[in-house]
Amino acid sequence: MKRITLTQYLVEQQRKKQAVSAEVRLLIETVARACKAIGHTVGKGALGGVLGSLGTENVQGEIQKKLDVLSNEILLEANEWGGHLAAMASEEMETIHRIPNRYPKGEYLLLFDPLDGSSNIDVNVSIGTIFSVLHAPHHASGREVDEQDFLQAGAQQVAAGYAVYGPQSTLVLTVGTGVVGFTLDREMGSWILTSESITIPEQTAEFAINMSNMRHWEAPVKRYIDECLAGKEGPLGKDYNMRWIASMVSDVHRILTRGGIFMYPRDKRSSGKNGKLRLMYEANPMSFIVEQAGGAAVDGAHRILDTQPGALHQRIGVILGSKAEVERVQRYHQEAS
Ligand code: AHG
Ligand code: MN
Ligand code: MN
Ligand code: MN
Repeated sequence: MKRITLTQYLVEQQRKKQAVSAEVRLLIETVARACKAIGHTVGKGALGGVLGSLGTENVQGEIQKKLDVLSNEILLEANEWGGHLAAMASEEMETIHRIPNRYPKGEYLLLFDPLDGSSNIDVNVSIGTIFSVLHAPHHASGREVDEQDFLQAGAQQVAAGYAVYGPQSTLVLTVGTGVVGFTLDREMGSWILTSESITIPEQTAEFAINMSNMRHWEAPVKRYIDECLAGKEGPLGKDYNMRWIASMVSDVHRILTRGGIFMYPRDKRSSGKNGKLRLMYEANPMSFIVEQAGGAAVDGAHRILDTQPGALHQRIGVILGSKAEVERVQRYHQEAS
C-alpha cells in the first residue's frame, strides 16, 4: 500500500486544488509536529512526572493540569518562529499571544485547546488537542493584531483539526475540502493518511450527553433525550445506546468514525446558560470538521458556524453529529422559541 504522509497530502491540496496556501501548509505541519510532541509527553505518564495539577487557575476558572500548561507551551514554541502567524489564542491564556518581534509575522491566526479532556489525563483515558486557523483581517494595514481580529464567525475558518492521544495517535483535519484522518507511525515519527474521506452517517442510534445535568436541561433537549430513552416504543422507533467519554475530542472522533450525536447544551443554571464548551477553539473547529464530514452543528436553534463571537473565551451550547438527528433537535428548539 502506498503511504501518503501529511506533507504529501498538503502539497497535493496546494497543487491540485489550491485549497491551501504554502503558509497554511507549513502552519498545519507545525501544529501536527507539536501534536506529536504533546502525544509523546502524554505517553510518559507518571514516569515523566506529567500527571496531576499545577494548582494555578486559568481564565475559565479551572484548576490547570500540568499537561494543560505543558501542551500550551509546546504549541506556542512550535508556532512562534515559523513566520506564518500574526498571533495565537488558547484556552489556557487570558488574552492573545502576539508573535514576538524577533520573528517574522505572517497573515494567519491560530487558536487552540491545547489539551482537551483534562479530567481524563490522570485516569489514562484518551485526550487530545483542537485547533482552528483564521486569516488575520487587517494584516495588510500593518497595524498590530488585537483580540478583536480573532472575533470572526466559524464559517471564516481556513482550516481546523484535532489530534487524539489514545491507543493510537490520530490527527483529523479539514481545509474545507472534506475531512481526512492520519495515524501517527510511532517508529517513523510521521503522520500517515489512513482515512481519505471521512463522512458521518445521517442517522444514528447513539447519543452522548452528560446525563447528570438532566435536571438543568431546557425542554427541547429533555424532549429529544426522553425520546431516545423511550427506544423502539417511542416516537423515534429505535433503541439508542449511550456513550460519554468526557473528552470532546474522543466523543467527536467516535461520531466521525461511526456516527452519533454529541450534546453539551446550554442549560438553566447561571453557570450553564451559555453552555460549557468554548466557541472559538472547541465548538467552531469541531463544527467545521463535522459539517465537512456531512454532519451538522447547532447551538440549539442556530448553526454554530454563523455565530458572531463577542469575546475570545465565549461559551456556547453544542449539538453536533449525524445530520438528521441534529436537525431534529434543532427543530425542537425552533418549535419551543
Ligand atoms: P477541557 O479539558 O479542554 O477544559 O474541556 C473539557 C470539556 C470537553 O472535553 C468535554 O466534553 C467536557 O468538558 C466534559 O465535561 P463534563 O465533565 O461536565 O462532562
Ligand atoms: Mn476542551
Ligand atoms: Mn483544554
Ligand atoms: Mn480546561
